[in-house]
Amino acid sequence: MNSPDPSLRVKPHLPDAQTVTAVHHWTDRLFSFRVTRPQSLRFRSGEFVMIGLLDDNGKPLLRAYSIASPSWDEELEFYSIKVPDGPLTSRLQHIKVGDEIILRPKPVGTLVLDALLPGNRLWFLATGTGLAPFASLMRDPETYEKFDQVIMMHTCREVAELEYGRQLVENLKDDPLIGEMVGDKLIYYPTTTREPFHHMGRVTDNLSLGKVFADLGLPPMDAAHDRAMICGSLAFNVDVKAILEGFGLREGANSEPLEFVVEKAFVGDGI
Ligand code: FAD
Ligand code: A2P
Repeated sequence: MNSPDPSLRVKPHLPDAQTVTAVHHWTDRLFSFRVTRPQSLRFRSGEFVMIGLLDDNGKPLLRAYSIASPSWDEELEFYSIKVPDGPLTSRLQHIKVGDEIILRPKPVGTLVLDALLPGNRLWFLATGTGLAPFASLMRDPETYEKFDQVIMMHTCREVAELEYGRQLVENLKDDPLIGEMVGDKLIYYPTTTREPFHHMGRVTDNLSLGKVFADLGLPPMDAAHDRAMICGSLAFNVDVKAILEGFGLREGANSEPLEFVVEKAFVGDGI
């Protein structure tokens, strides 16, 4: 029997399909990509959606992804891990411009400005791809309308893993839309833990030992002035939460805004 002519094969049309417009590989474990935005999709900076591809049986294989672009952007950006044997990312890491992905247009999440009481300083605390929701919030004018200072603490094992965030922050100052609003309000405090860098140490240690406050010339956190958002592994979230509670901050939610909010950057790891 003759096999069908490949040129006649119709590419299956994905449900909720969006087209990839850009892909950038940062390290062998990290990449970012941009896709078209469904016209009807409205979201709050910091929220996540389900995205994915079809599996070998033609069934949608979906995972939660923070939207890394701000709510005003005409495209959507994502910042992704590559898990070598991960069901989704072992394939997703090979996407090219023009490919389609599935994007369920139902944004949700706790890392939104509405879930925090008004304050003076806003702390974004992240490890690894936990930067993604803050990549969105750092580019949102509302962040700078609501807070006098925004401090982005991002920690990775190695310097190369910080590069996506570093470039994003550097480019913000010259951004024609939001650069002026950002001004000097955004303070970037990246650290590594396993490779020499000008600032080192875990977010937890830098907060509890007071190093970050001393380095930046800021007072220790307190419930009257400081607000925070946490996004990392489960262990990271648990440890940071305990430190913030030690400063007197309380965990809030969309339904009850308080001083800080938490979201997992991924699931599946123990403490
Ligand atoms: P999975 O079977 O999902 O994961 C395999 C293992 O890989 C996990 O058990 C875990 O140990 C590890 N792992 C998974 N994701 C990560 C990660 N991001 N960093 C380090 N280790 C990881 N992932 C992103 O890359 N970018 C995002 O913006 C993002 N946002 C998320 C938001 C939420 C609310 C949640 C719950 C998860 C988010 N994730 C994000 C994780 C994502 O949903 C998938 O787990 C990831 O894409 C890997 O999918 P997979 O099918 O290849 O492997
Ligand atoms: P460390 O190198 O000291 O383990 P990972 O790549 O394992 O997800 O970790 C990403 C970054 O988060 C690393 O710099 C790691 O530091 C740090 N980290 C991991 N677990 C915690 C935790 N419970 N509290 C604070 N930082 C953490």
